[in-house]
Amino acid sequence: MEEIVYLNGSFIPRSKAWISAFDHGFLYGYGLFETMRAYGTHIFRLGRHLARLAQAAEILGLASKLATFDLERAARDTLSANDLKDGSIRLTVSGGEGEMIPDPSTCRYPTVLIAARGYTPYPIQIYKSGFRAVLSSLRRDSQSPLSRIKSANYLINVLAKMEARASGADEALLLNELGFLAEGSTCNLFLVAGDILFTPSLKSGILPGITREAVLELASGLGIEAREQEMTLSELFEADEAFLTSSLLEIMPLTGFDGKPIGTAKPGAVTERLMAAYKELVEREARPQE
Ligand SMILES: Cc1ncc(COP(=O)(O)O)c(C=O)c1O
Repeated sequence: MEEIVYLNGSFIPRSKAWISAFDHGFLYGYGLFETMRAYGTHIFRLGRHLARLAQAAEILGLASKLATFDLERAARDTLSANDLKDGSIRLTVSGGEGEMIPDPSTCRYPTVLIAARGYTPYPIQIYKSGFRAVLSSLRRDSQSPLSRIKSANYLINVLAKMEARASGADEALLLNELGFLAEGSTCNLFLVAGDILFTPSLKSGILPGITREAVLELASGLGIEAREQEMTLSELFEADEAFLTSSLLEIMPLTGFDGKPIGTAKPGAVTERLMAAYKELVEREARPQE
């Protein structure tokens, strides 16, 4: 069966899903996206993803144009239209068609696209050995609104991922313009030192990850002290454990950085506790409510 996508209010086969060549998402990266994970037929923290999108839409001046869309329902219906159990859902919105000038007042109707695909997680062996990362030559700008939103203008992230691939690593970590640790190209970063969990603060110029937020909640429930603060590279080199988070990765141990091991180069005890708690959390939230 051909994949069904949601485009501007209609469910249509993927091969019929066309958008204007003059869409400002394409011309200027004037748009936003969310990537979500479904467990069974439940989209994990859909409400939080849509709240982040809504906040970002305010920044881009797209909020009023999205007001007529029931994105929550559209995301769920896209998943069920494809008869998927477990999958990834990508919601993309853009300013829509406009003139060939970077002026969004020329765009009348936004473009809203939702696609859902089956998702195969990384094999368990990868979670056991962990990711290896390198330092990106690019910087996050902690003052830029673009660092805090999932805009369709993702070139810093794309270039950082290319650097990771070019050096045979799984991820690239970016510092901000002040030299503090920010995040990975498509994930947030956590460190463990002693029995304390650390993660770069929002003011470091990071995306406020939905998984990051869930991990901080889990840490609090487990009695693990967590601190959000500015962090340095040497703290990463000296960390006992580190891990990366994203909706698709969930919690991925980070066991090597710039050719050196982190801690014992194996997933650490705190990381493993959080991984188990995260698994329980997604199962609990996916269970139908009695
Ligand atoms: C730059 C960046 N940081 C962090 C994340 C993790 O966000 P989330 O946990 O909401 O998936 C992503 C996800 O794609 C990302 O692109």
